[in-house]
Amino acid sequence: MIKALRGMKDILDPKFLKIFDTAREVAENYGFEYIETPILEETSLFKRSVGEASDIVNKEMYQFIDKGGNDVCLRPEGTAGVVRSFIEHKFDRAGSPKRFWYFGPMFRYERPQKGRFREFHQFGVESFGTSSIYEDINIISMAADIFERLGIEYTLKINSLGCPKCMPSYKEKLVEFLNEHKNELCEDCQRRINQNPIRTLDCKNQSCQAILKDAPKITDNLCEECNSDFEKLQNGLKSLEIPYEIDKHLVRGLDYYTKTTFEFISNKIGAQSAIAGGGRYDRLVEFLGGKPTPAVGFAIGVERIMDLVEDKKERKGIYMGALIEEAIPFIQKHAKKAREDKKVFVEPNIKSLKAHLKAADKGNYKIAMIVGEDELKKGEFFIKEL
Ligand code: HAM
Repeated sequence: MIKALRGMKDILDPKFLKIFDTAREVAENYGFEYIETPILEETSLFKRSVGEASDIVNKEMYQFIDKGGNDVCLRPEGTAGVVRSFIEHKFDRAGSPKRFWYFGPMFRYERPQKGRFREFHQFGVESFGTSSIYEDINIISMAADIFERLGIEYTLKINSLGCPKCMPSYKEKLVEFLNEHKNELCEDCQRRINQNPIRTLDCKNQSCQAILKDAPKITDNLCEECNSDFEKLQNGLKSLEIPYEIDKHLVRGLDYYTKTTFEFISNKIGAQSAIAGGGRYDRLVEFLGGKPTPAVGFAIGVERIMDLVEDKKERKGIYMGALIEEAIPFIQKHAKKAREDKKVFVEPNIKSLKAHLKAADKGNYKIAMIVGEDELKKGEFFIKEL
């Protein structure tokens, strides 16, 4: 028997669509428009955006050479493709803000476990063209609204990574600290000292964390503007009554972030507890060859929240069934009309009344409408509410 690949699965749960519908409605209510980008992109796009030193690019890409000799890979995340498209369609030149939402599969060759898959789905948004901290608040508020509508409890963690003004001098301080403790750090962190020192801050290794708790913190080293924005961000969240915690080690696993980073966490789903992540990436458009354009966004991990969505099994729609074959065309005609505004299922097989009612009940329909010989003669239905 051929089975789905390890870490990939069929989606048979209607909650998947409920998440999509809810997130889409909220994003559109915030003034965001739909974008769909290809699942396959040039590998260099992710190397340059997500970062060559990141685990995603280093270890987790579904990368191959296609028949034309191009180095391509299945997208591990959505932001890079949206940025590529933004530049390719010259929205960076137009200079006016653009706000997109998207939904689709992402691929990371990770070790599968609960909540961690090799194919998973993200609902994401990306806002281009505004550096205002109030857009960061809009974005976080949108994610919070989506979770609220879906009945999901969360903890929001925020941090600031600073900007090109304050980040380099902070990095120097951090590297100095890391070099002083080099021998006590794990191999990965030793490598990161030169490649990407701030990634040491979220090392999962407990002994590294014990040392890093005394490391200099970026939030204590922000420039005036970044500091004032970080304060405005917190005040904005307070005024919207969105609870948050500051996590000074929240640097995220993708290299493109500047200033605000955030993550939504659930304590109900085990070790893979991040249900959404995002932040500001003011330099990425320029880095990928576009005109400098500030940007901010997030992505929700759809599979991670499936079990958290309330499963209200409301009865819905109409089940129509026939006791004799001659009644089926009559039923189909009525069903076609009723479907203009209702869900109507027509059972194509002849069954007894009892069997029809049982099927309608099992299918979670609200109403069963059955036609036998008598009903057909009168042009009527036998109607039962379930
Ligand atoms: P990310 O944190 O890598 O960010 O992924 C976002 C969310 O996708 C995670 O919080 C998690 O819920 C889900 N996720 C990630 N990996 C897996 C996996 N292997 N299995 C199941 N779910 C997973 C990004 O991808 C950024 N592009 C977000 C962003 C948008 N930043 C700015 N704009």
